[in-house]
Formats: sequence, structure tokens, C-alpha cells
Amino acid sequence: MNTQRSFVMLKPGVLQRRIVGDIISRFEKKGLNLVGLKMLTIPQSLAQSHYGEHSGKDFFQSLISYITAGPVVAMVFEGESAVPVIRKLCGPTRVEEAPPGTIRGDYTMHTAKNIVHASDSPESAEKEVNLFFRPEEIFSWTDGNSMWF
Ligand code: CMP
Repeated sequence: MNTQRSFVMLKPGVLQRRIVGDIISRFEKKGLNLVGLKMLTIPQSLAQSHYGEHSGKDFFQSLISYITAGPVVAMVFEGESAVPVIRKLCGPTRVEEAPPGTIRGDYTMHTAKNIVHASDSPESAEKEVNLFFRPEEIFSWTDGNSMWF
């Protein structure tokens, strides 16, 4: 077993589009365990830390403006190979490459508003989970149905 945790964020606009439940449902139905969940409006400083690797790129300022423009839903999911599994459910960052059936392929037209963020490696996941969640905000639980997934 390679149990991993991954950080997932539903970006501004997902609440307004009233599709929060639809998106969370995709991760739940896959068999991932939701172990952390909160809503917040991201402060500038947190946005800059979270997206620090993109600092200097031409889209950085617009990315920071967008991600701080309204409330987000921040989550932690746990499961076997959760990091790559969640990336596949989300689809490629560039939405024109995201196939139907993926979240980005089904719900968005523009890369700059690709509606969901998911950690790209176990190392990023650990960093991002710790940026957004305190240890006591994570709730690991055992799944009596795990043999069915
Ligand atoms: P995300 O997975 O949250 O990680 C970085 C984000 O930057 C990405 O999703 C996109 O929303 C955004 N992004 C990446 N590439 C571009 C680009 N070429 N133009 C605009 N935004 C981008």
C-alpha cells in the first residue's frame, strides 16, 4: 500500500457556479477519503507562498488576483497513490488538453480559470497541506467498505 495525502482546492467561482458538490462527489466516488475540508478567502501572502514556483511568470499576477478573488474550498484527500490518482481525475493543467471525463475537461474553458488545483507530487502535497491545514484539522478515518473499492 502506498497511502498518500493530497491537497485539492476548488478555486473561486466554483461556489458561485454551484458545482462544489459535483466536484467533491467525483473524488468520493473514486474511493478517496476526504480527511480535511474548509472554506477560506486566501490572503495575498498565502497565495504568494502557495504559487511561489510560478513567481516571475507572465501569468503570476493574474493568477494571484484570481485565486484571492473569492472563497475557495480547500481539501485534503487520502488514499492509495492519491497524488497521481487525483491529478488524473482533474486532467491536464492546460484545458485544451483536458479530455472529456476529467474535471477540467468537463467544467472549464480557460487554463487561467481551470477551477481546481491538486498537488503535483507527494512533496508538494505535504507542503501544501501544511500551508492550509493545522494537524488537528485533519481527520483520518477507517473505511469499513474499503474492500469494495
Ligand atoms: P494550478 O494547477 O492551480 O497551478 C498553477 C496555475 O497557474 C494553474 O493551475 C493555472 O490556473 C495557472 N496557469 C498555468 N499556466 C498558465 C498559463 N499559461 N496561463 C495562465 N494561467 C496558467
